Amino acid sequence: MATALATLMSKPAVDLARHRTPVERLARLEQALGPDAPRLLVKRDDLLAFGGGGNKVRKLQLIAAEARRAGADTLITCGAVGSNHARVTAATGAALGWRVILVLNGVAPDPPTGNLRLDHLFGADVRIVPRREDRAAAMEAAADEVRRADHVPFVIPVGGSTPVGAMGMARAVPELGMDRVTPDVIIHASSSGGTQAGLVAGCALVGSRAHVIGVSADEPAEALATHVEQLIDSMAVALGGRAGTLLGPHPITTDDSQVGGGYGVSTPAATEATTLLARTEGIVIDSVYGAKAMAGLIARVRAGTFTKDQTVLFWHTGGLIG
Ligand SMILES: Cc1ncc(COP(=O)(O)O)c(C=O)c1O
Repeated sequence: MATALATLMSKPAVDLARHRTPVERLARLEQALGPDAPRLLVKRDDLLAFGGGGNKVRKLQLIAAEARRAGADTLITCGAVGSNHARVTAATGAALGWRVILVLNGVAPDPPTGNLRLDHLFGADVRIVPRREDRAAAMEAAADEVRRADHVPFVIPVGGSTPVGAMGMARAVPELGMDRVTPDVIIHASSSGGTQAGLVAGCALVGSRAHVIGVSADEPAEALATHVEQLIDSMAVALGGRAGTLLGPHPITTDDSQVGGGYGVSTPAATEATTLLARTEGIVIDSVYGAKAMAGLIARVRAGTFTKDQTVLFWHTGGLIG
C-alpha cells in the first residue's frame, strides 16, 4: 500500500490550486438535528482557489498533466449546459494557453448565466447539442476537426471521471490526516463516479476505515456502484497493484434515494437541506449535487443510522456557480 500511495502522490500534476482545503465543524447543524446527531464536519473543496473551485479542480490537475504528456494543445469535454466540470476544464485550458471545446447538452440560457457564462469568459468554444446521447459524436467530430487543423486534441470523458481524474480526488484524502481528522463516514455528491472512486481508493491507501457514501445526483445506485468499482480497480492496476486491493473494508455504497425527478430537478428534501445548512452555518451548497448529498446526510441522521460518538464528514464538492 505504501508503494501505491507514493506512486499516487508522485503522479505528475498541473499546479492549479496550491493550498489544501479546510475541514470545519458543523456544530450548529448538529444542534439543529437533535441530541443524538453525530459529530458533523465539512471538507471545504468549494474553497479550492481555481476557476470557481470544487472537486473538478482536483481531477483536472492530473488530467491536464496527462494531456500535456500526450502533446495535446486542445482539451475537449462534455457535460450539461450548467456543467461544473466543463467550467473547470475551460479555466484549465485558459491557464495553460490551450484551446478548449465544450460539447454541452440542453438549452443554453440567453444571455449565458452561471457556469456557461464563465465558460465563455474563460474563452472556451461552446457547442450546444440537444441531448446527452448527442455528446459523444459531437466530441469525436470536434477531435477530427482539431486534428485536421494540425493540432492535438485530448478528449476528457464526462465529469473527468477517468482513473487518472479519480486519482486527483484520491490525492485529497491524505489532507485529512494532516488536519488529524479521522471520519467514520464520508458523505458526498456522486454522479459520474470519479469523486467516489477517488475517495474510496484514497481511504484505502492511507489506511482510513471511513465508510464513503456517494449520494447520487442522477444515476441509479447499482449502475453507479458498478462504475465506481471499475474505476477503483483501474486505479489499483495503474498504481502497480491488483484489482480489488483499493476497495477498502466497506461495500461500495451509493444512495439514489435523493434523485427525485432526476438530474437538476430539485426535491423538497434538497431545498430543506440547503436552507438548514445556510441558516445554521452560513454555508451554501448547489441544488444539483450538494443539496441532494446533504439531504442524504440529514435523512440518515434522522433515521438514527449513526451513533452520537461517530464522526461524519460532508465532502463539499463545490458547484455554487451553477
Ligand atoms: C459540484 C459537484 N459535486 C459532485 C459531483 C459529482 O462528482 P463525480 O461526477 O465525480 O461523481 C459533480 C460533478 O458531476 C459536481 O459538479
